[in-house]
Amino acid sequence: MKYPHHNPLKSLHWWKKATAYQIYPRSFYDTNQDGIGDIPGIIEKLDYLRDLGIDLLWICPFYQSPNDDNGYDISDYQAIHPDFGTLSDVDNLISAAHQRGIRIILDLVINHTSDEHPWFIESRKGKENPKRDWYIWRDAAPATPQKITDEPNNWESIFHGSAWEYDAHSEQYYLHLFSKKQPDLNWENPEVKQALYGMIHWWLERGIDGFRVDAISHIQKKHGLPSLPNPNKQKHVSSFEYHMNVEGIEKHLFDLKENAFSPFDIVTVGEANGVSAEDALPWVGEEDEQGKSGVFNMVFQFEHMTLWAEEENRDSFNLIEFKTILTRWQNALEGKGWNALYLENHDQARSINTFADKTQAYESATALAACYFLMKGTPFIYQGQEIGMTNHQFTSLNEFNDVSANNLIKKLKEKGKTDAQILHLLNQVSRDHSRLPMHWNDQAYAGFSTVSPWIRLNPNYLEINVAQQQKDPDSILNFYKKLIRLRKSNLSLIEGRYQLMLDDDPQIYAYQRISSDMTWSIITNLSGRESKVDLDLSSLGECVLNNQTTNNKNKKSDFLTSKIAPAYCAYVFVKKN
Ligand code: GLC
Ligand code: CA
Repeated sequence: MKYPHHNPLKSLHWWKKATAYQIYPRSFYDTNQDGIGDIPGIIEKLDYLRDLGIDLLWICPFYQSPNDDNGYDISDYQAIHPDFGTLSDVDNLISAAHQRGIRIILDLVINHTSDEHPWFIESRKGKENPKRDWYIWRDAAPATPQKITDEPNNWESIFHGSAWEYDAHSEQYYLHLFSKKQPDLNWENPEVKQALYGMIHWWLERGIDGFRVDAISHIQKKHGLPSLPNPNKQKHVSSFEYHMNVEGIEKHLFDLKENAFSPFDIVTVGEANGVSAEDALPWVGEEDEQGKSGVFNMVFQFEHMTLWAEEENRDSFNLIEFKTILTRWQNALEGKGWNALYLENHDQARSINTFADKTQAYESATALAACYFLMKGTPFIYQGQEIGMTNHQFTSLNEFNDVSANNLIKKLKEKGKTDAQILHLLNQVSRDHSRLPMHWNDQAYAGFSTVSPWIRLNPNYLEINVAQQQKDPDSILNFYKKLIRLRKSNLSLIEGRYQLMLDDDPQIYAYQRISSDMTWSIITNLSGRESKVDLDLSSLGECVLNNQTTNNKNKKSDFLTSKIAPAYCAYVFVKKN
């Protein structure tokens, strides 16, 4: 996307100062003993969130849904799935949160609906149906001897397998970039947009404070839906190139902004897979002199995560690459846009396992926390991250719940992979890791419910849980609280410019946040070995926060004199300029 940007007007919106927390409601807290987290469960935990220092919640879908993709397959946007409660529970949640100064954004899933949505039920009735063109239907491709299938093109679904599903009744295929129960809406059809905008207004008028906008970089498909290049003659090609951030998407995005979002004073966060720092301004740019601005207030960029690259084993974490990517985003948006900062969400394995070392969980969790949290942007914490929840060790392929994992298992088996190989892979990357129930205490079912939960529990709730960490001043939870309070009480940590230090150091992630009156220096060792830090530490001012405790495995550090940074350490310095 091309979009000119000069001399932005800077304004300190509430959402820039906020600390955000993501809730996967099914696994957060169950109040009616059915083993499923619910909306009253969120209300009950608002005081916990307030005490943590949260002022913005992103809540994953709780709408009516057949749950093929746990609620991301919506069959009624304006109804609540009975597992979660009722519309009046939602109204109560909004007012209970607002009473505590916590704002709420909901998940807006508008790339696709469920195949059980009334729009799709109509659409699949036949070629003449008025809603036929609300989705993307195509004839079978003419069969030729060279053709491997007669599907309209060779795209693979993001959730593996074909992106096309044949409907025998109407004798055409429909496109689904995600599961076959998530048909893609046709954004070229103005009626679809009007229907979606009406639904968006309905939610905004209920008093929510904005949206996290799901899979929005996929709404535009490459014109003509051509097949992807296929040198290896595969049945389906697993590239997103023809349906992710492709040319023409901007007209839909600006239309969405103008007609659905702009009349309201809200915050919007786009899920922007495939958007790079170089083309970020049309997505998140702040108002310029001509009064033009990007579509969203923030985006979740994907470059530092390997989401959907599920087939690749994650051998080692490359810190230099991680620093390069995050620094590129920090620099690209400096004074022009705003970052959403995150290391975890409901689509990712736990960050301690992915980026650090679960055998040094306290050190890993707190060093990662200090590192990402104090960058410039709005930090998001995913439920359980604040207590250092880790991945689960699955022992069999039939233990996975996620539709994407199950499709991947099928595909890899067809490719000849052994069960052990697939299990090894999913134990690193499965989305189920982060969807296991929240650990509230060491009682039955981790205090999540009084009955067996909808999905297995990680047995390590006995050691890793909220109740235990609340009692321990040196816990991960209390470190997060300190970080949140530090950021909240220092405007320079919100507005200050980011500056990377020790760019080429393969173990240390160090950066500064510089404002007119203060310079903060954040030094973390994101490796499992100690490392000499090549900086004049005495020039950095006072050390106001670190993750060294008397009971962690590292010796109480003499970092300042020796300059030896222990494995997974974090130090935050500040000085007046
Ligand atoms: C987004 C969501 C993910 C969901 C997918 C399809 O990537 O984060 O959980 O499965 O979209 O809606
Ligand atoms: Ca429940």
